[in-house]
Formats: sequence, C-alpha cells, structure tokens
Amino acid sequence: MHIAQRMQRLGTETAFLVLAKAKALEAQGKHVVHLEIGEPDFDTPVNIKTAAKKALDDGFTHYGPAPGLPDLRAAIARHINERLGVSYTPNNVVVTPGGKPIMFFTILACVDEGDEVIYPNPGFPIYESVINFLGGKPVPLPLREEKEFRFDIGELKRLITPRTRMLIINSPQNPTGGILTREDLKEIAALAVAHDLIVLSDEIYARIVYDGFQHISIATMPGMAERTIILDGFSKTFAMTGWRLGFGVMPEELARLVAQLQINSNSCTASFSQVAAIEALTGSQQEVTRMVAEFKRRRDVIVEGLNAIPGFRCHRPLGAFYVFPSIVGTGKSSKFLAEYLLNEAGVACLSGTAFGAFGEGFLRFSYANSVENIVIALDRVRKAVAAL
Ligand SMILES: Cc1ncc(COP(=O)(O)O)c(C=O)c1O
Repeated sequence: MHIAQRMQRLGTETAFLVLAKAKALEAQGKHVVHLEIGEPDFDTPVNIKTAAKKALDDGFTHYGPAPGLPDLRAAIARHINERLGVSYTPNNVVVTPGGKPIMFFTILACVDEGDEVIYPNPGFPIYESVINFLGGKPVPLPLREEKEFRFDIGELKRLITPRTRMLIINSPQNPTGGILTREDLKEIAALAVAHDLIVLSDEIYARIVYDGFQHISIATMPGMAERTIILDGFSKTFAMTGWRLGFGVMPEELARLVAQLQINSNSCTASFSQVAAIEALTGSQQEVTRMVAEFKRRRDVIVEGLNAIPGFRCHRPLGAFYVFPSIVGTGKSSKFLAEYLLNEAGVACLSGTAFGAFGEGFLRFSYANSVENIVIALDRVRKAVAAL
C-alpha cells in the first residue's frame, strides 16, 4: 500500500509505547509499577457518572452541534470567566474529544507551511509532532532545570524571527511539573504582542497545583485575549481520560474554523459525555479538592524518595502530577536507565528524551499512582541503581 510522504513527519507519544511494553512484561508474569502514563488512577467522581447515565436515558445519544452543546459551551465560558477573571462568551468555546484535538486543529488553522512555531522542550511530544506533520518548522525552547524548568525569556526573544507564527506554552507543565510565574507571563505576553504571535496556552493542569500556587492564564494579560488559544479539558482535573472531553477557548473567528475542522473530522464530541461535563463543572468540586490533596501527598513522597537515591536530583514541582529528576549523576543515558528500570526493576517510567532532545539527563515519573506503589517503586529504583 502506498503511504503518503507526510507520514514520515508524524511523531508519537512514547508513554503509550512504554505502557504496551510494560503490559507485555506483565503478561509474562512480571510485576510492574506503572509510573509512565499521565492519567489519574482515581475513578471519575460519582456525580459525573450519574449525570452521564441519566443523559443516556434522556436520549443524548445523537449527533450534537459541531462546536459543542450550547449549555456546555455556556458553562465552560462561565467557568473560565470566573476562574480567570476574563469575559468570554460561548462563541469563544469549542468542545472536542479530549484536549489534544485543540493542538491539531489550531495549528492546522493558524500555521502555514514554513511558519515557525516555538514550543517548550522538554515538552508534550505531540506539539513537535503536529507542527512537523503540518509543514511548520518546530523551534525548541529549552526549559532549564536551574530555573525550576521555566525558560529564559532572553532565549525566547532570540528565537523569534519574522517567520515565527505561534508560541506554545504549557503551565503547569508536562513533563517537568514546572510553572510559569506572573512575571514570566507578562514578559511573554509583551513579546507576543510586539511580534504579533499567536499563543497556544496549554492549561490542562491548571487546577492541579500545590503549596498555594495560583494558576494564571496568559489570556488575562493586556492584548492577549485576541491572540490566545486556551487548551483545557476534563481528563486530568476530573479523572476523565477515557471520556474524551476537552475544549479550546479562542477568538470567535478561529472558534468557527476549528468547529469546521471538527465537522471534517469528528463531527462532534459524544453528546452524553458533554452533559456529564456540565455536571463536572457546575456540581460539587469536593472530589477535585480531594484528588489534588492526594497528588500533593504523593508528590512529597516521590520527591523525597528520589532525592535519597545517589545520582538522582529531583526538583519539587508546583503543579501537574509528574516529577522530572536529573539522573546525570548515575552516569547513564536517560533511555538506557528507563529501559533498565522497566526490565530489571519492574518500574515503568519515561526517558526524558521522550519529550524532546533537551530531556536528556532526566527521567519522567508520573505519580498518579498510590503511595504504596510509589514506595515500592522507589525501593526498587534505589536497589537497581545501586547494582549498576
Ligand atoms: C500537556 C498536555 N496537554 C494535553 C493533553 C491531552 O489531554 P486529553 O487529550 O486527554 O484531554 C495532555 C495529556 O497527557 C497533556 O499532558
């Protein structure tokens, strides 16, 4: 079969490949602690599941409008306005099957062939994959461990050229758990306005934050609402990865085009899922608070445990549910160590390079697993590293 040339430019998300490898080891009888995949281990809160069941009984089993059910778009606009202090309308919102399609659709709609897109590296691998696939030029912006995985604004400035069309930011960040400060966002916004850049702001971890950190959106900065796409969703905050529910908030003109891309691909997001999403946003938030508190407890256990392993150095992140320790002190490459830990210690984690070239020297552990399992994993890693 002929395969189109462009497929050679398509990347992937290594987490799914490592998950498959870990499952194959489990099928052979080996015990594996899963710290590779970025999904909450909690069940979706009961009130949301009940709303979905009722929606099925109420007949929400048909196609819905391409940009999303009007009631959900309104609930999202209200929720974002209240949380961020902005003034979006439902016309700014497009509901998609997960947050991921917002990356694909907005890059497709905004980036011409040869346009440059600056993106964080290490960063979510789909940014680079989609930029490449759609004919843009990916320009990596290195995140610095010494800056707690923020980037250097001077470095960003130097990467901007007349061909730069878009800047992607992600705070709290995958894979490092790093956050951007208000000062960072102000400076980034000033650059975006001065150079007429579109900013794709991936805020999917906005509500998973610790130690009193308050998430701030770049969309709130002067001149930014008209050039920002907020990517958010239900997967992480409400433990709803399998429901495939996300959304983008963006200028109306772009929202219309993204809805048209949706008509050309998914048609719409599942209708009963969308009804449940209204309950997620407007119902009790007690479970979200509980899950975040539990993530914090796990973060503290894993950060302390990793820092006690010779050769490891782990920053304490303020958001998301990932840690990104430096393993330079072990003298091994990231890829070697990730494979070694899976095969020899039964601990699945990801090589920092799964998130781009600047991830060399690091591993990513997702702590969306129980404290008991994290403790087992830490013990295994410590023994395996000592045996190197
Ligand atoms: C930074 C980031 N953005 C977006 C997504 C996509 O989430 P989903 O499509 O499941 O809503 C993920 C998932 O891992 C992520 O880590």
